[in-house]
Amino acid sequence: MVDSLWKTHNPAGKKRVVVTKELPGVRWIEVLSAAGCCVEVCTSSATLSAAEIRAAMDSRCDGVIGQLTETWGAELFAALKAAGGTAYSNYAVGYNNIELDAATRVGIPVGNTPGVLTDTTAEMAVALTFAAVRRVGEAERFLRAGRFHGWLPMLFLGELLAGKTVGIIGAGRIGDAYARMMVEGHKMHVVYFDLHRNAALEQYVADYAAFLQTHGLPRVTCRRAERLEDLLREADVVSIHTVLDDSTRHLINAGRLNLMKDNALIVNTSRGPVIDEAALVAHCRRHPNFRAGLDVFENEPKLASGLAELENVVIVPHIASATKWTREGMATLAASNVAGLLMGYPAWNRPDVGPFLGNRPPKAAPSILNAKELSTSLYKGK
Ligand code: DGY
Repeated sequence: MVDSLWKTHNPAGKKRVVVTKELPGVRWIEVLSAAGCCVEVCTSSATLSAAEIRAAMDSRCDGVIGQLTETWGAELFAALKAAGGTAYSNYAVGYNNIELDAATRVGIPVGNTPGVLTDTTAEMAVALTFAAVRRVGEAERFLRAGRFHGWLPMLFLGELLAGKTVGIIGAGRIGDAYARMMVEGHKMHVVYFDLHRNAALEQYVADYAAFLQTHGLPRVTCRRAERLEDLLREADVVSIHTVLDDSTRHLINAGRLNLMKDNALIVNTSRGPVIDEAALVAHCRRHPNFRAGLDVFENEPKLASGLAELENVVIVPHIASATKWTREGMATLAASNVAGLLMGYPAWNRPDVGPFLGNRPPKAAPSILNAKELSTSLYKGK
């Protein structure tokens, strides 16, 4: 471990917490310091290898805040346990980089950061939607290259979305927020595919439809698709908001892309491997009017061969959660998970983590994924 790449906060703290990347804001450092932790932060932007993380934990480490770019499996959780560790939090809501069973087996509670990414990520999905259907990337490159010689009736024709259908794959928090933005902002119909019915979303759209009707405007609709294939055939825009696990890896493959309309759009702000990226490249090559807006990639940070050259694809480097408020909120939640566990607090028992961002945070760890498996006690306060 190169010492110059590490920065220490609250060196007098009795518990040692390793943080594998610098995080935004100061609140998270205050939370850990108040819990008596000495906080050692890696200042390098390079992804740490398992060996480097093990070296950083050394023979004594009480807790870790890790990154979605690191693979936390049996080896690292065993090393954390051997170093006396009792707490881990991912600096992310997604946790496909974590082998939760391995952590549970050695008794390490694992936290994540839900709730604060919802609107920020949904807004990026909206941004990618319009950037792709209105060809913003292509048009900007054209302009910057000095090729704009005056207004033309057919320059960069795109698609109008108002009144069309948006398909949501995974209608959890973020998918739900994106759906509402597309309904309210752009008067689109919704069809969603999810293992569970989202009755709140259906009711919201029904109420909004009634409101539109009182203003003499066409109604919007929302329905749950029985089969993913039905959604893909019907939707003009498909936005992916599902988790990545064995059942969703390559959920969107060549066969399913072929079901989509030739001028449809696919947006992905969830996890790259949900789409077979090579199949997407081939599909976009064959269908120049098909579009994709991608925040995540199958083998990040690498892109599939040919993807970056495609004019009908808009790509950004996994920044959907990148607003100051969200990233600082994620840091506060990750720190509160580790601090709460080290203080022996119970796990928070409700989906709203807002109280942890306020001035009087509850004495609890906000989001512990394996709380049930580890029989962690639950918060009983109001
Ligand atoms: C997450 O938290 O899972 C996001 O992908 C970070 O942007």
